[in-house]
Amino acid sequence: MKVGLVQVFSCPEDAVRKLAAEVAELIRSRASQGFMTVLGLATGNTPLPFYRELIRLHREEGLSFETVATFNLDEYLGLDRDHPESYWTFMHRNLFDHLDVSPENIHLPSGRLRDEEIEAHCAAYERAIREAGGIDFQLLGIGRTGHIGFNEPGSSKSSRTRRIHLDPITREDAASSFGGLDHVPTHAITMGCGTILEARRIVLLAWGGHKAAIVKEAVEGTVNDQVSASFLQEHPNACFYLDRGAAEALD
Ligand code: PGA
Repeated sequence: MKVGLVQVFSCPEDAVRKLAAEVAELIRSRASQGFMTVLGLATGNTPLPFYRELIRLHREEGLSFETVATFNLDEYLGLDRDHPESYWTFMHRNLFDHLDVSPENIHLPSGRLRDEEIEAHCAAYERAIREAGGIDFQLLGIGRTGHIGFNEPGSSKSSRTRRIHLDPITREDAASSFGGLDHVPTHAITMGCGTILEARRIVLLAWGGHKAAIVKEAVEGTVNDQVSASFLQEHPNACFYLDRGAAEALD
């Protein structure tokens, strides 16, 4: 395993404290030089303690997000923005509503697109990331299929923002929040692996023994498109922040 690829913490709170301090330092040092900071953000249960820590830093330590622009990894297709399970709703409820980030600096793919609009929408998303100067810091979780964003098995290392068919395992994992498998969207818009890997710094978070097997494949397995998180092994500045449970299968 590459040196520095993995850091193991005794609990998620310790991991997110360290990570949030890194991100706060990045935001402050770029702001002091007159630059915006571009954050790539993720949804799911995993980032919640990290978002709580960012909110605490904003409230208690005066960390401002006025110089931050955000790009989320993905969004379900077929959901309106204000659907309770949309990632737009998730991000506002769990992070943006509690910070001083400007609404015009917040970017998520749209979940309401006609088929003929998808290609142009995805190209515009890629262009917006480029025009913002690229992603300084990218946060990731990992799904049981090994996906980062919604890059399900078979997603190439050079894939870009596009429509993806969700893996049955991914839909099954989302079923309880949607009140049943039938209500889980079948497709999403996701940044591609190539889009993600252009970020200058990447940290993947994983907590709990239920993630241990896929984390082992991503970290110690061969780099391959059946586990898109394995591509992080080849990134010059990517790291897996794990709690003991998620790390328990590693050699
Ligand atoms: P989770 O999802 O954080 O809810 O476990 C992770 C993912 O699917 O990327």
